[in-house]
Amino acid sequence: MKNPFGKKGWTPERIKDLSGKTFVITGTTSGTGFEAARILLSKGAKVVMLNRNPQKAAETIAKLKEVVGNKIDVINIIMDLGIQDSVKKAAAEVLEQADRIDALMCNAAIAQTPKRKLTQEGWELQMGVNYFGHFTLQALLFPLIEQSKGRIVTVGSMGYDMGLKTIKFDDLNWEKDYTPNNAYSQSKLAQIMSVYELNDRLKAAGKSEVKAYACHPGSSRTSLITTNGSFLMKMIFNMMKLTPLTQAAENGAYPELMCATEEDLDENGFYGPTGRSNWVGPVGPHEIKVHAKDKAVMQRLWDLSEKETGLSWKI
Ligand SMILES: NC(=O)c1ccc[n+]([C@@H]2O[C@H](COP(=O)([O-])OP(=O)(O)OC[C@H]3O[C@@H](n4cnc5c(N)ncnc54)[C@H](OP(=O)(O)O)[C@@H]3O)[C@@H](O)[C@H]2O)c1
Repeated sequence: MKNPFGKKGWTPERIKDLSGKTFVITGTTSGTGFEAARILLSKGAKVVMLNRNPQKAAETIAKLKEVVGNKIDVINIIMDLGIQDSVKKAAAEVLEQADRIDALMCNAAIAQTPKRKLTQEGWELQMGVNYFGHFTLQALLFPLIEQSKGRIVTVGSMGYDMGLKTIKFDDLNWEKDYTPNNAYSQSKLAQIMSVYELNDRLKAAGKSEVKAYACHPGSSRTSLITTNGSFLMKMIFNMMKLTPLTQAAENGAYPELMCATEEDLDENGFYGPTGRSNWVGPVGPHEIKVHAKDKAVMQRLWDLSEKETGLSWKI
């Protein structure tokens, strides 16, 4: 696939002045979320961060001020994606604090939880945090995103193509055969599928001014595996960090920044690094495997998600 952004791929140099625009982003205390917030603020945007840990959030704001400047327009709202009440409360606060949302960037995640754990609602932890948490957040913020002619950006993973490659409807919470990789992969596949299903639903409703995009950061040197992964996973990833098979967290933020700001992207596309194994390299559109667009699975997942969360989207 030819990269429309040339040999170097998409870079933040393409972002124009963002004064007057508001970006809501989940999980900015480290990794790609921190880098994305930093770059958006450096371009003059207002950034509403959604993080679960008040102390880390305060430290993040202090660090952003240190690197971008004291005049930045940034706030944090406390939200734990693994607790539905917390997500609902945070969404209500966002609606109070922001008069527009140019992009909601669903960036936060946990990965490779060694032992099966459940959220308060009884969902497997990665599915509950990465998928259902963001599903609820998006549903509640959708009216303002639509009013702002904004976008939803979902940070997926190449992991969508590494697990079972479908949704385990008969055992969504892994009561049987739990493996950290399969559960993480399912949550990321679900996140990506819901983007394409949302776009289909928007199209059917004749709504073309609000868009959703799916992207991923490739293999980036962040805290993802060190926060949560098993000893073995941490060892493997720490070794990978020393090789050209990984890239800086800043580069990992480029796909989500591109999807949040670039005009004329195809909402049916998939965006990330286009180099080796899509782990590193110039950012642009690249292939997505057909199982991520299996219409019957997408529809069933959406209906199930509305039922599980008790929320129906007002599309
Ligand atoms: N790094 C990679 O190579 C890679 C590869 C594929 C996909 N991704 C995706 O890239 C995205 C960013 O991850 P990253 O690599 O930058 O990892 P990271 O450095 O670990 O950042 C993850 C962020 O998510 C937040 N978070 C975790 N659980 C949360 C919860 N329950 N509620 C609210 N926030 C929560 C973390 O906050 P705390 O500080 O509170 O933990 C942190 O701010 C994720 O969607 C991940 O799946 C990363």
